Amino acid sequence: MTEIQTLVKDLAQSHGRSRESLLPILQGIIEKDRFISEYAMIEVAKELDISTAEVYGTASFYSFLDTEKRGKYVIRVCKTITCAMKGKNQILLALEDTLKINLGETTPDKKFSILETNCLGWCHKAPAMLINDDVYTELTPEMVRQIIEDYRKREA
Ligand code: FES
Repeated sequence: MTEIQTLVKDLAQSHGRSRESLLPILQGIIEKDRFISEYAMIEVAKELDISTAEVYGTASFYSFLDTEKRGKYVIRVCKTITCAMKGKNQILLALEDTLKINLGETTPDKKFSILETNCLGWCHKAPAMLINDDVYTELTPEMVRQIIEDYRKREA
């Protein structure tokens, strides 16, 4: 059995095999692998006895269920209205400029990816972004540069 098959079986064991288990199982895969490969989707479909299209539909609907392999640090900038009005574009530009990649891309060393996301629930402290599970709020371009610098130091 492959590692993914074992993981999917274990997740199905703890969450059950009903249609409602799909989301927690996909989240479990993300926790382990940070993305859901096509192979993993096929295994989930087999395990829950549903179509691969249904698994793919769910995975691609939720931006947190990434279907592509990303960098070690996935940066998600909130694109929803409050953050958009409070300078989300400048935050994005500062990230792109610091990391020398565009939105949707991953740095060649596979450390950072920049993505957008919907409201993170921190509108009162907009603009906001996530780096993996850590939230950063009331951002300015200077803060963004500093945050990335700190991550780079941590990696060095
Ligand atoms: Fe950005 Fe809510 S609009 S956190």
